[in-house]
Amino acid sequence: MQHLGTDLARAASVLRSGGLVGMPTETVYGLAANALDVVAVARIFSAKNRPHFDPLIVHLSDWTEVDRVAHEIPSEAQLLWTALGPAPLTYVLPKRPEVPDLVTSGLDHVAVRIPQLILARQLLATAGVPVAAPSANPFGFVSPTTAQHVADQLGDQVDYILDGGACGVGVESTIVAWPEGRAMVLRLGGIPVETLTEILGYEPEIRTSTSKPSAPGMLDAHYAPGKPVRLMAHGTDWSQVTVPQGIQALAFAANDWVASLTTHGDCAEGAQRLFAALREFAASDYRELWIELAPEVGLGRAINDRLRRAAHRAED
Ligand code: TXA
Ligand code: MG
Repeated sequence: MQHLGTDLARAASVLRSGGLVGMPTETVYGLAANALDVVAVARIFSAKNRPHFDPLIVHLSDWTEVDRVAHEIPSEAQLLWTALGPAPLTYVLPKRPEVPDLVTSGLDHVAVRIPQLILARQLLATAGVPVAAPSANPFGFVSPTTAQHVADQLGDQVDYILDGGACGVGVESTIVAWPEGRAMVLRLGGIPVETLTEILGYEPEIRTSTSKPSAPGMLDAHYAPGKPVRLMAHGTDWSQVTVPQGIQALAFAANDWVASLTTHGDCAEGAQRLFAALREFAASDYRELWIELAPEVGLGRAINDRLRRAAHRAED
């Protein structure tokens, strides 16, 4: 496919000229556009079929760029950056007026992320503009973790897909905000809450509530594979489970009975493989998925958050 490749200069020039790029990051692939170009940003929303009340993350090549889009940076944001550097972490910061309201859905804060993947930062540096990028999936579907996933789901709507290989982290960034001075986690993701606690010296409140208009991307029934998903408790004894025909069973760690998400029960491996596993289930003939939850610690919490959303079915 001609519009998928490893041409970084081409990807950067597409961004500069108002086009859409499938951008690799360490978490998931993004659907990227120049954040300061309202027409380009509007194309993101229509390509994804994304409601305009759902704000976008702005990606920068380095922390030194943060002043271009935000101001009055909380000292704890600086502290996290100093400790972590480029990481699967998104900072919600007071926005500068230069950032179009379309990017932030009219909020006075902007979500900022400096990705860990070097190729992503090279692309951002070469493009030389702040880049708005939601995950490169149609709204409500599973996030893409390979360039091919982006091509499969968004095809011709993307001008160029930069292939950076499979995403190493596999779940989206952790989102942290400072609504009342103290850090608050708005989305569980690639940086474990335990890591933030260690750096901040206190445990940030976790408010990933799904009904809040301030983080509408955290809707229930997000990451939907389109078929029923049943959650099995972590530690399920699969030797005691009778799996009916037509149902796919996926344990967390390898065992003698059913297939598994990981080999040794490692959460980093589980996160990395999660969305591809959901995607394979969606494309398979199985009518239902029985999947075992991860342990409720570290990256396991982000995995379980995504699984609970995948298992959630719309009430109607
Ligand atoms: O790992 C990631 O963060 C990936 C890669 C591509 O960087 N991006 C990503 O974007 O997951 P998206 O659009 O799928 O999710 C962004 C989330 C949404 O839930 C949105 O509501 C929230 O970030 N968000 C964006 N701006 C916000 C703001 N100003 N205040 C609060 N939440 C915000
Ligand atoms: Mg998303």
